[in-house]
Amino acid sequence: MLLDTYGRVATDLRVSLTDRCNLRCTYCMPEEGLQWLAKPDLLTDDEIVRLVGVAVTRLGVTEVRFTGGEPLLRPGLVDIVARCAALAPRPRISLTTNGIGLARTAEALRDAGLDRVNVSLDTLRPDVFATLTRRKRHHDVLAGLAAARAVGLTPVKVNAVLMRGVNDDEAADLLAWALAEDYELRFIEQMPLDAQHGWQRSDMVTAEEILARLTARFSLTPEASDDRGSAPAERWLVDGGPARVGVIASVTRPFCRACDRTRLTADGQVRNCLFAREESDLRTALRSGASDERVAELWRAAMWGKKAGSGLDDPSFLQPQRPMSAIGG
Ligand code: GTP
Ligand code: 5AD
Ligand code: SF4
Repeated sequence: MLLDTYGRVATDLRVSLTDRCNLRCTYCMPEEGLQWLAKPDLLTDDEIVRLVGVAVTRLGVTEVRFTGGEPLLRPGLVDIVARCAALAPRPRISLTTNGIGLARTAEALRDAGLDRVNVSLDTLRPDVFATLTRRKRHHDVLAGLAAARAVGLTPVKVNAVLMRGVNDDEAADLLAWALAEDYELRFIEQMPLDAQHGWQRSDMVTAEEILARLTARFSLTPEASDDRGSAPAERWLVDGGPARVGVIASVTRPFCRACDRTRLTADGQVRNCLFAREESDLRTALRSGASDERVAELWRAAMWGKKAGSGLDDPSFLQPQRPMSAIGG
């Protein structure tokens, strides 16, 4: 079990498969990209499957999510999913992606054992998409979403980050579109995890503002709170349901007390929190011949040191050294 000193148990593992990405979202990374991890530093496919196996068979992990950077850029993704789906007990497996290339791979991923996908899409306007991501790939994302729905990677969730003066006027349009397309939309408050360290609290579109924009057009009823579990999204029924909308308000309504996450970076470091300032090196342990039990012991110790919260509200808050794209969201 992955227990911490506050009594939380981590059962949800997020694995970053690469720090690279084919978009350049302005709230994430600069146009020129970042200093990418070197190939020999990345976990191999075998190492990833071994670590997921340790998590599932010895540490009580029941949910595995692959992230990036952009996880569809990892050549071995389908095989990694298939090998993780063959573990006993079989974990639930999901993917968080920007959707580019998903139209081509959705079916193979589903056949390999992927259960569902979350796709990032911040705008319905191709020109705004091009400004925001610095790439003209809006159409590919829409095609990826449709393919995911068609092959049954459901519920397909859409993640949207709103930015003031860029796409914050689109909240209600995005919801109308998601309802029509049968996607579950979640809005995410922008977090201080950008590589450029340019985040400012005053620029962030808050949950309160998002809800005000939505209630101008829709009636929202809070979902019974026991349905939320440890999920970061607070959810509302739209116009009486069954459709829902979520808001992930990491900044203004943190959910750290119920956090059930553990994270593995693409270079094999355990992070006990998205905002952690320390990491625990499992890659070196693996490569120096550690047994599965030894790896499990290191992982337990890493989680035991998890702090109570993100520290975002402390005056002394410091952004983690690694940006979101290298942590895995
Ligand atoms: P579901 O199981 O589908 O609800 O997944 P999810 O919402 O946890 O995953 P997803 O990868 O779609 O992440 C959506 C947003 O939630 C991203 O901005 C993540 O960075 C954020 N998020 C995920 N886990 C955590 C966490 O432990 N803490 C915080 N603060 N944010 C998180
Ligand atoms: N704050 C909030 N969400 C972010 N994402 C990327 N960077 C940030 C940030 N700084 C979102 C992406 C994606 C999800 C995994 O996280 O848009 O939907
Ligand atoms: Fe890529 Fe996601 Fe960062 Fe956008 S937010 S640049 S899609 S890793």
